Amino acid sequence: MNILLTGGAGYIGSHTAVVLSQAGHEVVLLDNFCNSSPSVLERLQKILGKALPCVEADVRNTDAVERVLREYKIDAVIHFAGLKAVGESVANPVLYYANNVQGSISLLQAMQKVGVKTLVFSSSATVYGEPQYLPYDEDHPTKPMNPYGQSKLQTEKILRDLAISDADWKITSLRYFNPVGAHESGLIGEDPNGIPNNLMPYIAKVASGELPHLNIFGDDYETRDGTGERDYIHVMDLAEGHEAAISYLENCCRGFEVINLGTGKSVSVLELISAYEEVIGCKIKKFITKKRPGDLPVYYAQANKAKKLLNWIAIRSVGDICETTQRFSAAKIIA
Ligand code: NAD
Ligand code: WQD
Repeated sequence: MNILLTGGAGYIGSHTAVVLSQAGHEVVLLDNFCNSSPSVLERLQKILGKALPCVEADVRNTDAVERVLREYKIDAVIHFAGLKAVGESVANPVLYYANNVQGSISLLQAMQKVGVKTLVFSSSATVYGEPQYLPYDEDHPTKPMNPYGQSKLQTEKILRDLAISDADWKITSLRYFNPVGAHESGLIGEDPNGIPNNLMPYIAKVASGELPHLNIFGDDYETRDGTGERDYIHVMDLAEGHEAAISYLENCCRGFEVINLGTGKSVSVLELISAYEEVIGCKIKKFITKKRPGDLPVYYAQANKAKKLLNWIAIRSVGDICETTQRFSAAKIIA
């Protein structure tokens, strides 16, 4: 298939580009590079042995998206393009609704004009909000706790309405849990600018000496060891989940379907740190600090629906996650 990846130069998009291209799909990237760098294209070329076409454009530019859909005879779109920092979304909600909701509407308008009606959407476990029960299954009530989560839920509602209005649409919304890790080559991975908001890139920066120590946000939660627990999913497993979703859309799905992509297991902050310490063979300097406002103690996925519908499960371990993160982090320093 000819597949357009909006936000394809980003963290999850670039790994998915590798998996889809290696599976024989023709992949085209579209990105405005607001949170990525064109240098990822050279690294993708090294991994794949060929260059992927990439168009620099904003998804909110409907005409530009329409041109790309026509020029590359696109059959399906995976819509990664979006902003994802929870704190920033609280500080600047308009930015998040404009980019994430308006961006999705613009993409759908372009797809409608060209008649491309197959879509995978990057959603998030954050749409569930405070757990009523765990693991979160796809029927768990949705009550996002911040504008970022709201922007994902609102987009899902638009997609559901669209699929009801026109039976030709095939749409899967994938709700990712906590994507971490890097490609086994160490050439691509997550590389946030400045001080990371998320645990895994923070650990990597402390391990490499870029940051002096890690703050653990609370150790008195009602969890196994008092620290927060999350469902960390290797980005290559996630990427393979997108390939499975594309096959599913091609072969079986009609209408709109929501599917969790997670491992079904939770790992605590301390457990993740100790797995990383094992990989690097030394201790990571850390302090317990106060809880981060808005953090939930624990959440993880019910992953059965993905297994049933997509024939997909996460296969990589926490050790794989730490090893590939460290490989990417070390390669960055040498480069
Ligand atoms: P990322 O920031 O690395 O990638 C997003 C890409 O989209 C970037 O390359 C950015 O430049 C591009 N982009 C953003 N707005 C754009 C626009 N208007 N037009 C064109 N390009 C634009 O983030 P990621 O971690 O790869 O996340 C991909 C998607 O998955 C996002 O929609 C995110 O909300 C969602 N998601 C991410 C996580 C996570 O923890 N990483 C979890 C759940 C869901
Ligand atoms: C994980 C755990 C922290 C940093 C976020 C978004 C979510 C989704 C994934 C997009 C928590 C603890 C963290 C640190 C720490 N993104 N922590 N010290 O908050 O589960 O999810 O990314 O959809 O929407 O909210 O991920 O990596 O920030 O935190 O102790 O320096 O690590 O308290 O328990 P989170 P995270």
